[in-house]
Amino acid sequence: MPSTVGGFGSALRSNLVPFSQTNSRASVETRETRETRENPGTSETPRTPEPAETAEATKTAEPSEAVETQGTLEATESSEATEATEATEATEATEATETPETPETARAATSHAWATLLDIGPPAGGRRRLHDRLAHALRAAIREGRLAEGDAVPPSRALAEQLGCSRWVVTEAYGQLIAEGYLSARAGSATRVAWSPDGTPPQPRARRAPAHPPIRYDLAPGLPDLRAFPRRRWADAVRAVAGSAVHYDLGLPDPAGHPVLRTTVAQYLRRSRGADAHPESVSVCAGVTDALVRTCRALRAEGIVDLAVEHPGWGRLRDAALTAGLRVHAVPVDQDGLRVDDLARTTARAVVVGAAHQFPTGTMLSPARRAHLVRWAREVDGFVIEDDYDAEFRYDHHPVAVMQGMDPGRVYLLGSVSKTLSPALGLGWLVAPGTMTRALRAANPVATAPPVLDQLALATFIDRGWYDAHLRAARRRFRTRRDLLIRTLGSQVPQGRIAGTAAGLHILLHLPDGTDTHGAVRAAAAAGLRLADLDDYRTNPSTQRALVLGYGNITDTEIPPAVTLLAATLRRPARAPSAPSA
Ligand SMILES: Cc1ncc(COP(=O)(O)O)c(C=O)c1O
Repeated sequence: MPSTVGGFGSALRSNLVPFSQTNSRASVETRETRETRENPGTSETPRTPEPAETAEATKTAEPSEAVETQGTLEATESSEATEATEATEATEATEATETPETPETARAATSHAWATLLDIGPPAGGRRRLHDRLAHALRAAIREGRLAEGDAVPPSRALAEQLGCSRWVVTEAYGQLIAEGYLSARAGSATRVAWSPDGTPPQPRARRAPAHPPIRYDLAPGLPDLRAFPRRRWADAVRAVAGSAVHYDLGLPDPAGHPVLRTTVAQYLRRSRGADAHPESVSVCAGVTDALVRTCRALRAEGIVDLAVEHPGWGRLRDAALTAGLRVHAVPVDQDGLRVDDLARTTARAVVVGAAHQFPTGTMLSPARRAHLVRWAREVDGFVIEDDYDAEFRYDHHPVAVMQGMDPGRVYLLGSVSKTLSPALGLGWLVAPGTMTRALRAANPVATAPPVLDQLALATFIDRGWYDAHLRAARRRFRTRRDLLIRTLGSQVPQGRIAGTAAGLHILLHLPDGTDTHGAVRAAAAAGLRLADLDDYRTNPSTQRALVLGYGNITDTEIPPAVTLLAATLRRPARAPSAPSA
């Protein structure tokens, strides 16, 4: 049985010193005094906010996070606070619904003298910010077993009151520990400890429906960090548009998408992806797959029946083209991306290409190949269809501009929020060459855009700067996680060679010839680890053995045990390779 908050409190107590004995109390008081002086309207006071004002209180608390420097406090950059807040939204959303499950939890938490129990510690060891120190204290308590797996932590508001700090400090610390896998947050439930020091993975909670087979660790590609979905801000955007949409918006939707979102997407693509996009050339659709089906229908209506896709590649793109009645040619990819010379030997007049980050090899189409590909399109009077599915995540330098800007008359640009927010939203876009816009609409007369309120919510989310803030926070989180995965693979799977690390949410792990990767994927699945074989993305098997490892939907703390499991499955004796799934 998980212990109660009382147990949580006593678990922490063992190495706790009175808060007032550290200089943290002084720091908090200094900050509060200073905030009140500088910004009396936004400073938090140690009172219990009314439920209705909680969200607002959290918002105003964001810029007030402080850095302690030799007894003085400096406000951190507000953009950093904003980004970090995004990462904690899952916690906040969960807490909004905590009360029904644990009314005693909140009471017990506030009745506990947390301010005298928590040893947040002085600013040391590179941890100057209060939320870092709080996270450190909680992490230590969990690692040392003083907080047991399943224990509920207090609601952030209650703990913030006890500590005399802003609620943002607590939600930020919780958010960090959720990302690391020490805590878990679920709607309708308290935030709980999700890790135990004996190395055994967290057990699924009894009331959770069992999955078949249960997935303990997800190292398959495809999903972003679903725990970090910006719930509060998305809910704010939905609420805002539900209240502000004019009644005409609730009538028959424009099949090409609501003009407000088309305008917002065009602006976003121009400023962040270097695209040549305008509200008239943008169509809103349900994602890249939907956009590709629409594009292929339009190409077919224009007499183009042969289309090329990259090999290896994502099978759904091939399926989308087949669905639209096109013949599909697979063209190989090498270290510079799509082999344009090989493409030119086919009868294709259109090609789908992941120019910024090819899936699954992770290569970027080289500048020379980009120029060559555009020349090819002009020569065959054809089109390039650019799948810009995860280009926002680039870690070595700024995201590479889209190819579409090189020749907007020959390149279609397809994108979605499936990798940046969630595939569950079903929102994406398609930028078509001006000459093709009419053909595109005519060829898809029954196409429907996603629900209008969702479209308007996305426009609000982007226009208010929340999308950019979310991307900045996500980029930082993914870079840290990718580095951890690479380090852990280096020590545990030394026979592997890692590639495709510069961008996206997955990497490639090349393995020695003869490695039974199919068997490893099956054995891993039976042990609760989801993996993908590179052969899953090929139409015919290859002797080159590799796994495609995604790190979007796994926590930092799950990476070491997941890689240990992966290494163990790779040590199994090799068997003859079986036929891959096409
Ligand atoms: C290569 C590739 N393109 C596009 C997408 C996104 O597709 P959609 O927007 O239809 O979810 C994915 C998602 O996994 C992908 O792997």
